[in-house]
Amino acid sequence: MKKLMAANWKMYKTWDEAKATARELADLVGALPDDREVLIFPPFTALKGVSDELASVKGFSTGGQDYYIQEEGAFTGEISPKMLKDCGAAFGLTGHSERRHVLGETDEYIGKKTAYGIASGLKVVLCVGELIEERKAGKVEEVVERQIREGLKDVPREIEAEQIAIAYEPVWAIGTGEVAGPEEIVEAHAFCRKILVDLFGEKGNEIRVLYGGSVKPENCSQIISLDNVDGVLVGGASLKGESFSKIVLA
Ligand code: PGA
Repeated sequence: MKKLMAANWKMYKTWDEAKATARELADLVGALPDDREVLIFPPFTALKGVSDELASVKGFSTGGQDYYIQEEGAFTGEISPKMLKDCGAAFGLTGHSERRHVLGETDEYIGKKTAYGIASGLKVVLCVGELIEERKAGKVEEVVERQIREGLKDVPREIEAEQIAIAYEPVWAIGTGEVAGPEEIVEAHAFCRKILVDLFGEKGNEIRVLYGGSVKPENCSQIISLDNVDGVLVGGASLKGESFSKIVLA
């Protein structure tokens, strides 16, 4: 299984900045090791530029940070998986904590979106993770289990393992510099794995589980070597080619 090293650029970078960062990243990474795959989620407005920039770079792909659950129609401001694919995207992102907690998306909607993306031919990274209050109240497993089960509820069980990935991102570690400790990561990832096997049988062992939350060049090699960590989803430290290239090669 290849490790998936994913960058979430959130609402950062104009077209020119995004293309330049993608180029710098590809140049710094050079020939990608066989066990690695790189995925960039640029903002919509730069998706086509980044996809074109990386089109001939082996092992690199792009994704949309969000999409709506229809192919087209009167949905002002929305973007469909078909449009993402038209801009070169292979992936979509669902359930990110900023969409759950800032933009108010529910488990039910995230589930519909995840299934719709897969049905539309995207691979989907579904993010899950608890708030600090939930961790303090001993509810990590309850929250993560609910988010995975609801998120994958309508996803056909016969999909290929590579069509879905889970990103475990404890909300308190996102953008805070406070990374989860190795035991916390190992425990949460083993738990995600258990639910995936329960849902998909043996195939659940092949579905990638990424870690996200303050991943940096300094902590990435330790995180990536932990049990059941099949990649990372990186925000802040992915914005510069130099730091993300170190993460990709960690
Ligand atoms: P961070 O963000 O790396 O800046 O903590 C991670 C994410 O939001 O996916």
